[in-house]
Amino acid sequence: MILEGKHIRSIARTADGKGIRILDQRQLPWEIRWVELRDLDAAAVAIREMWTRGAPMIGATAAYGLAMALAVDASDTGLDAAYAMLVETRPTAINLRWALEQVRTAVEGLPYGERAAAAYARADAICDEDAELCRAIGEHGLDLLRGLHARHPDRPLNILTHCNAGWLATVDYGTATAPIYLAHDAGIPVHVWVDETRPRNQGALLTAFELRNHGVPHTVIADNAGGLLMMQGQVDAVIVGTDRVTANGDVCNKIGTYLKALAAHDNGVPFYVALPYTTFDPATASGADIPIEARAPEEVTRLTGPDEAGRIATIRVTDSPALNPAFDVTPARLVTGYITERGVLDRI
Ligand code: MRU
Repeated sequence: MILEGKHIRSIARTADGKGIRILDQRQLPWEIRWVELRDLDAAAVAIREMWTRGAPMIGATAAYGLAMALAVDASDTGLDAAYAMLVETRPTAINLRWALEQVRTAVEGLPYGERAAAAYARADAICDEDAELCRAIGEHGLDLLRGLHARHPDRPLNILTHCNAGWLATVDYGTATAPIYLAHDAGIPVHVWVDETRPRNQGALLTAFELRNHGVPHTVIADNAGGLLMMQGQVDAVIVGTDRVTANGDVCNKIGTYLKALAAHDNGVPFYVALPYTTFDPATASGADIPIEARAPEEVTRLTGPDEAGRIATIRVTDSPALNPAFDVTPARLVTGYITERGVLDRI
């Protein structure tokens, strides 16, 4: 599947302005299916069940969810109930709480009749700002990648990434992918090692889809392959996104990120984390204080996808008990730099 344009805005208001349109990421890359979310419940389900996902995108969807709720009930009780429902949909990414706080602050103190419009306007602004933040992350990351490529100008630059921190996970450009897209567009030869990212395969399904769509050379690898590739000198840098960076610089991201950081450290490979300020959580002291989402064991024990004939099938991987923590924490000491909209920082 190829989309029109290399990357697109992955969330927008519906034609009547009352709902939102998102890509159903459960269908990608096999089908490009836009869905309309028209009320609070639909927004909550889409976040909880991961029709849409990725820290900034969850925040943007929740912001519109609150606006849609206020269009029905703009009272303080309605606001509190909708806020409480949305904030519990996924516990780890701080962008969710950040976006809800933004909308709440924008409407509190307004007459009820003006609240919904103000909430929609704030949600629109969150989206516009997110696209701009990611573009700026891309510009700073581009300088970084240009410098890394200059060390070995005779061969492509090999970047390893984990999960999907692309435009599907944000409003546009992505965080970890923005420097890659800009480097590719600037003529720097980039090749990406894409961790498949079990159990939900965001790398194999979503990041590979994005890179294919953009024409960026890439190779999907099993999650356990990265260490060997680093040992063999086949990885110049790791770039990942994040769901939350705490006051001390610890980085919470998709399960498996920590093992990549350890392998990178052991092999002298720089490990970068790309994030907008909306993912920084100065109120949380360290990664140990972050709630780690526990998802259904079936995500580990079952695989679902189309067979060769295109029929959707679910297969059993095991019938044993399974544990499915969705995120892990990479200690700040393993992070070479944070690629932000303000530049590449060695500490946050
Ligand atoms: O469970 P997901 O798919 O929502 O997890 C997404 C990630 O871990 C991303 O790397 C992170 O949210 C950064 S998105 C720019």
